[in-house]
Amino acid sequence: MIYKTRKIDSVNGTFRAPGDKSISHRSVMFASLADGKSSITNCLRSEDLMSTINCFRALGCAIEMKDEKIIVEGRGFKKFTPPENYLDCGNSGTTSRLITGILAAQDFRTTLVGDDSLSKRPMNRIVGPLSRMGAVIETSASGTLPMTISPPDRLKAMEYEMEVASAQVKSAVLLAGLHLEDETTVIEKVPTRNHTELMLGLPVDRTNNSKRITVSKKYYPPCKDYFVPSDISTSAFFIVLTLLLKNSELLIENVLLNETRTGIINVLKKMGASIEVLEENISSGEKYGNLLVRNGELVNVEIDSGIIPNIIDEIPILSVAGIFADGRFEISNAGELRVKESDRINSLCSNFKKLGLSVDEYEDGFCVEGKIRNPGQTLDSFGDHRIAMAMAVLGFVTEYGFGINDFECVSVSNPDFINQIMALT
Ligand code: S3P
Repeated sequence: MIYKTRKIDSVNGTFRAPGDKSISHRSVMFASLADGKSSITNCLRSEDLMSTINCFRALGCAIEMKDEKIIVEGRGFKKFTPPENYLDCGNSGTTSRLITGILAAQDFRTTLVGDDSLSKRPMNRIVGPLSRMGAVIETSASGTLPMTISPPDRLKAMEYEMEVASAQVKSAVLLAGLHLEDETTVIEKVPTRNHTELMLGLPVDRTNNSKRITVSKKYYPPCKDYFVPSDISTSAFFIVLTLLLKNSELLIENVLLNETRTGIINVLKKMGASIEVLEENISSGEKYGNLLVRNGELVNVEIDSGIIPNIIDEIPILSVAGIFADGRFEISNAGELRVKESDRINSLCSNFKKLGLSVDEYEDGFCVEGKIRNPGQTLDSFGDHRIAMAMAVLGFVTEYGFGINDFECVSVSNPDFINQIMALT
């Protein structure tokens, strides 16, 4: 489906984004591991979450959608039933990487598949460390899905220093280690999102610029009532839209404010954005609060390499803010963008070039500046939800409309994206 954008005058009012995607995936997974009934309030309902939910249903968990809640009947320690067919992870990298850590410890064989995009994404980053623990995993010749996970002879605990700054890799190792009596330790030098350790209550030792996270069977999750704060990555599209539209002011409620995720707020504030945190709460170790965002002028700033993992999912929409900020927008040390739902460096650069902006693409980033000179184009979403939504925001703040193809891919994280925006105009 081609979505045609048109200029919006302003956005005002109150907005609450759906539940955070990372915490929703983990809530479904941890509730499925537990022995008995758990509930999840404000769980994201999107295609990516359905991938996780359907995988755990295929492993024998009863998962029921009930109004505001999702009710999960978990199976308990190593009690999953072998699936009758392969497990389909759809478009979801988080589903595929995290579930592999869990499946590596089970006594049956499973095969994971995914859509075209996921089938191009690297799996060796998890196969390497999990194999060191004794996991038996076979990928395609190019190190991608389909991937078969077989019962290990003996899974053993290990000490592992992270080689890629990836919360998905960290979580895969921790979830395998969760099935062992002995302690597994992950050493992390570049901080990545910490939901797995926070939600499982794992001990974290901070020593000179690194974190040591320890896990063992002792931390296997019990049944629980989970609450999922609203997604900061989804909220970021609404924050930038408000900043860029004159006479706009938005109150964004219950936004996840975990410090490994708030880099987008820090960078935008450094750029001069008016974003106020009004009220803070905490649930299951996760901070959340209300944000008051007001339109205003922005200036491009240098983006530090250490903050990249913290803003990795927000770079597409941050670059849209950068186009309208004074100076040129530049991002580097972000090679990980090339292995997301699309090659996001290429996806952004090729769309910006189509619009007549001046773009310089690097192996690990890009810079962009100038004015949109070629209205009336059809941009490519590359089937990537965050590219589609970032380009839509760009369309809502520019005079001439343009098309965005394959726009239905927004359903991966926020099926109601357009209705939510229109309700604020
Ligand atoms: C995620 C981690 C990030 C992020 C993804 C969700 C998670 O991936 O891009 O959208 O929930 O752990 P990496 O950790 O591989 O960078």
